[in-house]
Amino acid sequence: MTYLLPFDPATLPTESFDFLIIGSGVAGLSCAIELAPHGRVAVLTKEDISEGSTQWAQGGIAAALAPEPLDSAKLHEQDTMQAGAGLCDRSAVQVLVTEGPQRVRELIARGAHFDTEPTGELKLTREAAHRARRIVHAHGDSTGREVQRSLSANALESAGITVFEDMLTVDLLISGQDSNRRCCGALALDTETGELRLFRGAATIIATGGIGALYKVTTNPPVLTGDGMAMAFRAGAVLMDMEFVQFHPTAFAKGPNNPKFLISEAVRGEGAILLNTSGERFMSRYHPDAELAPRDVVSRAIAQEILTTGSDYVVLDLTANTAQQIAARFPKIYSTCVAYGIDPAHEPIPVSPAEHYMMGGIRTDLHGATNVYGLLACGECACTGVHGANRLASNSMLEGLVFGIRTVEGAIAVSKSGCPPELNTRSGDGVRAQPFSEAEITAARTRLQETMWHYVGLVRSGAGLRQALNILNELQERYGQPNPTRPSIELSNMITVAQLVARAALEREESRGAHYRTDFPQTLDGDWQHHVLLSNERNQLKVDKAPCS
Ligand code: FAD
Ligand code: SIN
Repeated sequence: MTYLLPFDPATLPTESFDFLIIGSGVAGLSCAIELAPHGRVAVLTKEDISEGSTQWAQGGIAAALAPEPLDSAKLHEQDTMQAGAGLCDRSAVQVLVTEGPQRVRELIARGAHFDTEPTGELKLTREAAHRARRIVHAHGDSTGREVQRSLSANALESAGITVFEDMLTVDLLISGQDSNRRCCGALALDTETGELRLFRGAATIIATGGIGALYKVTTNPPVLTGDGMAMAFRAGAVLMDMEFVQFHPTAFAKGPNNPKFLISEAVRGEGAILLNTSGERFMSRYHPDAELAPRDVVSRAIAQEILTTGSDYVVLDLTANTAQQIAARFPKIYSTCVAYGIDPAHEPIPVSPAEHYMMGGIRTDLHGATNVYGLLACGECACTGVHGANRLASNSMLEGLVFGIRTVEGAIAVSKSGCPPELNTRSGDGVRAQPFSEAEITAARTRLQETMWHYVGLVRSGAGLRQALNILNELQERYGQPNPTRPSIELSNMITVAQLVARAALEREESRGAHYRTDFPQTLDGDWQHHVLLSNERNQLKVDKAPCS
């Protein structure tokens, strides 16, 4: 095992728990709250407990809560499989859609408030590629804020859970080699004090979310640098479907790039239409479902229209509604647009695609277990195969709830097998790399983000991906071994994950779902209806394939 930083377990402050959870979004906290009755739980999180994608989620949570014939788990399964473009693992999808409604009810029982009809029933909306109204939402367009608020409150109130904020997890502690590898906990940097600390756990669960910070334009908060995926890769875990990065079609084209404010898909679900800057409603030229086509189709269509018209954006028109109607249904979107000088009741909103979600990640079974004993993963950083090549809107919060809670079973099974062995070997020779200046790290981070945006983005080609890998390898040479500072560690992780995304994208010589190659524009089911697996075998990248089940 290669660790990013040298450390000596004998000299570092060490704390022991039964369960160690890295990340405090919907997945990490759902898991922590359910695990608390079974042992001592530590949650390590990079900033404050709320910082992550979860609190920014807008549209809502998809679950077949309406009675038949309006909706059913079967219909939700079919929509999820359809959006996943032939690469969803059906058993994972069935778990998601059948357990989902109960998980949403439990969240409500724990104090989350979702929008309701005057009758008291949940209000359900529709989003692209869903054939039923099945999206529950809160405060109109601030679903994530409510989910994070209620889960954070539950976790902070629980006597069995200790939350460590500003605790950047750097690496997993691994004993043994090859198939005998066992995860014994994690090394973390307290970013308040600059001190390295060890956390031992019988089971360690990674719930570190997505990879938005790897891209120049993203809807994700900057905290999401792919750390969990990078540390799992270093520890020998298998990563799957890394080529499938989702771009949301309608990020607000005004304001900062990183993160970009989202104009929820629910806005199109409620009837808004897309026009190019020549005033043409173009989506029906690309897909029979027009504005409600799958996300990858709408994103690429917008990118094409932007290219053809020479503009930086297309527009989303909801001027058929009054200001009162828009402000009531989408209060956050309405107020943000107005703050940037656009009143959506009177003029259309400029929008363009942005990186949004990672379908791939750390390969797990249906109870969160990875191939490294004692190491589990859930949420956006994990890959059960549930989203295939393209995630259906609002299935991610649901995934965090369903698989976050399922991971509890996997973690308990590991903890019953006893304490992990002591880690008594020093790591590295104690020599640290030359310190990098802040300006140097910022410039390298920007170079990586631009490389990913241009060559490993919405539209890819073999030549572009090879070019990206050359640049990323150069960055790896220079910045791969970090200083013990947050920016330097994050940069090293970003380079690792960027290389994995580019490498998987180069491997897949076809187009499918969110992965589009100009040199291989067709979907080739015979050869390619399988997952690409990447792993680190004694510091060599190993590429494998696994059939889609
Ligand atoms: P996150 O909520 O991102 O949490 C990750 C956690 O890991 C954070 O606490 C972070 O601090 C921590 N972390 C990361 N690295 C480290 C480290 N090294 N050490 C310690 N801690 C670390 N999905 C839907 O289903 N419906 C929606 O309406 C929706 N809207 C969205 C809108 C926006 C703007 C965005 C960005 C996403 C949206 N998504 C939506 C996607 C969804 O929000 C995320 O996929 C989901 O919340 C991910 O949850 P998570 O728990 O896996 O990760
Ligand atoms: C949105 O509100 O459009 C985001 C939904 C999602 O990412 O699932």
